[in-house]
Amino acid sequence: MINVLPGRKKTIREIDVRGKRVLVRADFNVPLDEDGAIADDTRIRASLPTIRYLCERDARVILCSHLDRPPGEVVERLRLALVANQLSVLLDRPVLALQDCIGPEVESTVAGMSGGEIVLLENLRFHPEERADDPAFAESLARLAEIYVNDAFGASHRAHASIVGVPERLPAVAGFLLEKEVNTFAGILQDPERPFAAVIGGAKVSDKLEVLENIVSRVDLLLIGGGMAATFLASRGYGTGASHVETDRLDAVRRLEAKAKDLGVRLLLPRDVVIAKRLETGVPFRVAAATDIPDGQIIADIGPGTADEFCRELAGSKTVIWNGPMGVFEIPEFAEGTRRIAAALANLRGTTVVGGGSTADAVTRFGLAEDLTHVSTGGGAALTMLAGKPLPGVEALDDAEAP
Ligand code: 3PG
Repeated sequence: MINVLPGRKKTIREIDVRGKRVLVRADFNVPLDEDGAIADDTRIRASLPTIRYLCERDARVILCSHLDRPPGEVVERLRLALVANQLSVLLDRPVLALQDCIGPEVESTVAGMSGGEIVLLENLRFHPEERADDPAFAESLARLAEIYVNDAFGASHRAHASIVGVPERLPAVAGFLLEKEVNTFAGILQDPERPFAAVIGGAKVSDKLEVLENIVSRVDLLLIGGGMAATFLASRGYGTGASHVETDRLDAVRRLEAKAKDLGVRLLLPRDVVIAKRLETGVPFRVAAATDIPDGQIIADIGPGTADEFCRELAGSKTVIWNGPMGVFEIPEFAEGTRRIAAALANLRGTTVVGGGSTADAVTRFGLAEDLTHVSTGGGAALTMLAGKPLPGVEALDDAEAP
């Protein structure tokens, strides 16, 4: 069963899939490199347990996903054939890529499938009806199968046809990846082992405000880094040079700090920062006190003193959630703060959870993903959970029967 608030949802274990046609919504929205090849197949690998489980039970496995954001029409470089190839390599069995995701040809191919066979439908977003949650489109997808499995955690915050429309029309359960992701986030939010720390970074405070407002009452320690620290520093009246300050969020940030104080939560800002005139590789940079950022300079990373302090604080934690890099880690000169936090978490004897998106990219790049308890495959979906909001894709699944 899936431990989500407010109810409990059925998982793939609680439905008989043997020999059935099963439509699996996966999130194969993988990054592509300049040559159009898959740059990181983490999301494909994460879907394997559900696919293998179905194949072992002779189900006819019909996979579907979106890739990127095509404008509701075919974009050749966003065809899912490349994902089918990679899946086929990883599973060591054929995965047939279809030319469309609905229509008579798809229906006849699916009707001819044998138990244990796998097909991958074409990019759902080649049809504008996917994002519009169009009922006829959802019906066409649902017609292909007898059971629906949502294993697309990363897309479950989207109320799209394949996420919420299809489960209205078929028995609908969670796959193993969705279950693991939701249970991990729900677990640390509801019942964390303490002390519980959150490390929140990234460029903009506006992207994280809902998360901050939700977690401030759950954590013992809140560490703030990344470009968004500028808005916190400005809210305390410090000069922030040319760093981007979201002036319309200053009051919200002050309220958050007041709430943290009321609740006895320790909220730490950077004490020193790496600054530069531009966020580019090769530019001169230096460390400055966070309270003394000269005109024209931009915060590019937390400084070494802050990294020392944050790592010391985290060492005493039993649970840590991390979302948002500490600096512009894609640029080697500004990667150190993020790398130090990643290393501190990798060494921690406790539960360490990384919200997806760029933070997941960072820990993967540093080769530390394997040393953490959980690295989420979802960016927006992880933020939605951390903000305490329901995921439409989870809400749409069948409720589990009472024990
Ligand atoms: C993601 O990459 O976060 C998911 O695949 C969702 O993609 P979207 O933001 O284009 O809906």
